[in-house]
Amino acid sequence: MSRVFSGIQPTGNLHLGNYLGAIRKWVTMQDAHECIYCVVDLHAITVAQDPATLRNGIREMAAALIASGIDPDRAILFQQSQVRAHAEIAWVLMCTARVGWLNRMTQFKEKSGKDREGASVGLYTYPVLQAADILAYRATHVPVGDDQKQHLELARDIAAKFNTDMGIDVFPLPEPVIEGPATRVMSLRDGSAKMSKSDPSDAARINMTDDADAIAQKIKRARTDADALPSEPAGLAGRPEAANLVGIMAALSDRSIADVLRDHGGQGFGQFKPALADVMVAALAPINARFAVLRRDSAAIDAILAKGAARASAIAEPVLADVHRAVGFTG
Ligand code: TRP
Repeated sequence: MSRVFSGIQPTGNLHLGNYLGAIRKWVTMQDAHECIYCVVDLHAITVAQDPATLRNGIREMAAALIASGIDPDRAILFQQSQVRAHAEIAWVLMCTARVGWLNRMTQFKEKSGKDREGASVGLYTYPVLQAADILAYRATHVPVGDDQKQHLELARDIAAKFNTDMGIDVFPLPEPVIEGPATRVMSLRDGSAKMSKSDPSDAARINMTDDADAIAQKIKRARTDADALPSEPAGLAGRPEAANLVGIMAALSDRSIADVLRDHGGQGFGQFKPALADVMVAALAPINARFAVLRRDSAAIDAILAKGAARASAIAEPVLADVHRAVGFTG
């Protein structure tokens, strides 16, 4: 049996990059798998957070996930800090992971930037906590954006070393699930940069809360080259902005890039952009409407998260007990 686990940080608003990169896949996977989805507040505090903003961000992210189609009656949706196994297994795995392994993590290098000495120790050990998240449920499949590939490799290395060191197979090795057209959504202003919540230009991203006018405006202003769309995927080589918009179209309409180009090849952006905006509005408007209702009912969101934490704990506690036994803490 396969078990799916994934996590998302409760910082900032959900944007199209999060939605197409991960959340849509989370929603689809609910149909065929046991799914566990986690708002990773322990990860959030690896960089400075204002407590009131974090508190609000946790609820908002839960509401946004439900609005996007996560069904808390089927999938388990919960808040990481409320299940103790994450932090407790992470400590044990910090004694399994090697400093040399963490030194190779590119995300730490990017996030710590020039001031590496001033970064928190938590930011450095972030990927070990991520491994604990997954392994605490013995998850077999982990849907993520392609920027998380290296962290998933590390989780596998940690699981394998723990099993070998303790001489008992406590953890299965988790598989990343990365495929799909627009898994990596790029900035609308720069086809070589990822769409990001921290981009200073709001025009660079589509927020899940953008209304139809904002979406149409941003797509209209999106940077492109001057050529018409090619009729085959190979023609997108060296055209990152065009490739990004076509990839977004494909993902939003559940078609391949080849199919989109079969329909839109030969069109200029003056023609393609309004078509893309229409598809985007149709996909996002219902999510937007559900989110507007949900975010006003924080008591309901808190109840969903509490129930999710209880269900998650019921799975993770026996794994934590197995870890304790494997290490020799208990008999
Ligand atoms: N690091 C992931 C990200 O930034 C979030 C995350 C935390 C996660 N724990 C996880 C993803 C476990 C998958 C599985 O996107």
